[in-house]
Amino acid sequence: MTGTTAKSGRTGAIRPALLETRFPTFIPSYEGESGPDETLGRLNLNEAIFPPSDAAIAAARDALAFSHRYPDDFGTALKSELSTRTGIAPEAIHLGSGSSELLFAAVQISIEAGDHAVLPAPTFPVCAKAITHAGGRMTQVPVRADGANDVDAMLAAITAETRLFYLCTPNNPTGADLSADDLARAIANVPDQCLLLIDEAYMEFAVAEGGVDALSLIGDRSGPWMITRTFSKVYCLSALRVGYAFSSGGDVSQALNQVRANFTVSRPALAAALAALKDDDYLRHVLSATINARHELAKGLSGLACSVLPSRANFLTVRPHSVSAVKLAAQARDAGLLVQAMPWPDAIGSLRLTIGTPSQNETLLAVLRAGLGEG
Ligand SMILES: Cc1ncc(COP(=O)(O)O)c(C=O)c1O
Repeated sequence: MTGTTAKSGRTGAIRPALLETRFPTFIPSYEGESGPDETLGRLNLNEAIFPPSDAAIAAARDALAFSHRYPDDFGTALKSELSTRTGIAPEAIHLGSGSSELLFAAVQISIEAGDHAVLPAPTFPVCAKAITHAGGRMTQVPVRADGANDVDAMLAAITAETRLFYLCTPNNPTGADLSADDLARAIANVPDQCLLLIDEAYMEFAVAEGGVDALSLIGDRSGPWMITRTFSKVYCLSALRVGYAFSSGGDVSQALNQVRANFTVSRPALAAALAALKDDDYLRHVLSATINARHELAKGLSGLACSVLPSRANFLTVRPHSVSAVKLAAQARDAGLLVQAMPWPDAIGSLRLTIGTPSQNETLLAVLRAGLGEG
């Protein structure tokens, strides 16, 4: 049947929009080069410094023995624990293969061809990708000078066609989080015909330093909402791929259940996530070690020819004053460390540095001291 023209007028099997768009490979996989043995230190993916907690590893290992059985498709035990901790009904909690899957789903349930979305820029790229593929349009509103989402400018970009409003707090790749006032203004003013999506992948780091979590304020919202979180960061389970979302329930939950594929969160992943969630001591240990190391790194960078953006995440974003970020990333690589150079906000660019082990941070500081010079 080759050459048959579909109703849309197209002849090929693959949707042309997917062949025309070219998203940069924003997150290169260095597994082949560095391997899990960390021949090259991976300070480029905002992974945890630490391995999973012993309890999480033991739970995953036990679950592996049942790998001939599909996992619990509803994630009953994990949702129940999340529900107990937050008061959100299990029906309004959704699990995904990483929070990335839930961000994709948020776009799938809200954006049809021609619909409009408002996003910060730069930010985590998954939503923009999904919007483009859905045939949606978007306004990408520059973040503030401190790197936080510019809520007021974003609210001003809403039109009658806007169906999705995406906030990322703390924002990746810039690091700053939103204040309670900023969040409250978004919660109150994003209209009811818009899904308010708040990505809190690094929320635990922010809250540990006095930041707000959106869930504590979202009760004031009348319109639909989702708040996504992940086990990939502070819970040290990036490889297992578990994310979750709280939602306003009702239509949002119904739609999320419609678009989801079954069994996308594996049995070992569910078991490890539940054990990690209950291991409060380990969480505190990861939080304090990471945050202290971030402060140390920021202190070491002060006085060099760069600006360090405020961060409440497990990474630090640095704007060199004159040396190109790409050049500095190459120097870091020569010293055995992968860091993320970004073409933002200007031709010099910036570097996103995931907080590493004490010795990695020392090496990184030495590279940047030599590469940047004093400012
Ligand atoms: C802001 C933000 N959201 C979501 C994600 C997705 O994480 P995961 O799919 O591992 O849950 C990341 C990953 O780096 C992120 O930085």
